[in-house]
Amino acid sequence: MFDAQQFKSDFPVLQQVVHGDKPLVYLDTAASSQKPQVVIDALSRIDSTVYANVHRGAHWLSDQSTTLYEEARDCVTTFIGAESSKEIVFTQGTTAGINLVARCWSENNISAGDEIVLTQLEHHSNIVPWQQVAQRWGAVIRWANVTDDGQIDMEHYTSLLNEKTKIVAFTMCSNVLGSITPAAEIITAAHDADAIVMVDAAQAAPHQSIDVQQLDADFLAFSAHKMLGPSGIGILYGKQHLLASMPPFLGGGSMIDVVTQDDFKLADLPAKFEAGTPPISPVLAFPTAIDYLQNIGLESIGQHIESLVKLTHQQFSEIPQVQIHGPSPDQKSGIVNFTIAGVHPHDLTHALDNQGVAIRAGHHCAMPLHQRLGMPASARASFYLYNTAEDVQALTTAVNKAISLFC
Ligand SMILES: Cc1ncc(COP(=O)(O)O)c(C=O)c1O
Repeated sequence: MFDAQQFKSDFPVLQQVVHGDKPLVYLDTAASSQKPQVVIDALSRIDSTVYANVHRGAHWLSDQSTTLYEEARDCVTTFIGAESSKEIVFTQGTTAGINLVARCWSENNISAGDEIVLTQLEHHSNIVPWQQVAQRWGAVIRWANVTDDGQIDMEHYTSLLNEKTKIVAFTMCSNVLGSITPAAEIITAAHDADAIVMVDAAQAAPHQSIDVQQLDADFLAFSAHKMLGPSGIGILYGKQHLLASMPPFLGGGSMIDVVTQDDFKLADLPAKFEAGTPPISPVLAFPTAIDYLQNIGLESIGQHIESLVKLTHQQFSEIPQVQIHGPSPDQKSGIVNFTIAGVHPHDLTHALDNQGVAIRAGHHCAMPLHQRLGMPASARASFYLYNTAEDVQALTTAVNKAISLFC
């Protein structure tokens, strides 16, 4: 049986009371998840036993660290079903991964008049890098519409694809509404038009298993900090032939084979894209987070958060002032996005915080989606494996109190 209360006890941060006596109810995982004790211990153990710079030292400690670094890469390779560990690049996060692709892939593949397809669901991390590409090369961005209930309008999306389309960049799961997008269908349609795809899996990787080969994703990026891992690292997956054909992102140590006064020769994949000292301890600790998730099972986690989302919908449906945005619970991941007539989401968030309930308010780094939905800001509660039905009840109680305060 899925015992969220038991899992919660693995997370020291969640044992706290805030504002004097309020048990912390953490409903902001979509921004960043918390770390279980095993991950905290792994970070501390790594720093006290094997920490040294990787791929450089000719000594025992550096060998240990380098071996574990490459084992972490192997772990991620298996986790997302990549063909080779050469296809896994450690980055700073999803944002860095998308920027890497936008800058380096577009260098040899985008020219004036080419089209880049985005969807109105995207996070700024999957918008701005493409706007920069468009500005630099004179390319055109085409936007796939989102329906009123927050799904990609697939008919409109496919109507945008043509011989000028070079890349489709889309999210597998909206960070605002939780909408799970039909990734396989989007990718097949893009490939049928001879375009490649950049998949933003920042919100999907924490709750659904991803097989990049089955999906036939060309590039896919996600962040460790949204799936129980340390902040400061992310994964960029890229098909080997695509990564091999791209120029490097940053120049410096580790990404070269030979440097002379006149020139340099690039290192092989994936080192070519990992210039400088990487976030060593976070990379080494990430497999512990992946193990923790896999021991519980991503499918069970997905089912649990869907049940919490359903419960929230049910309880909110009894509060007339609350308007929920986005698809029905079975079509979304662990996010409930809502507004309350006459109450600004920021004021609401402060009122909830006073009661120990941590949610997020604002545009959630997705201004175009808010513009599409005709609202400047929204409130977002997001759930993970450590949230319980009691947390949902605490949210509902806090929302009711806020309404009696403001309305
Ligand atoms: C859908 C989506 N894409 C991209 C990002 C950016 O991730 P990061 O800040 O880890 O680079 C986020 C973060 O919230 C996200 O939710």
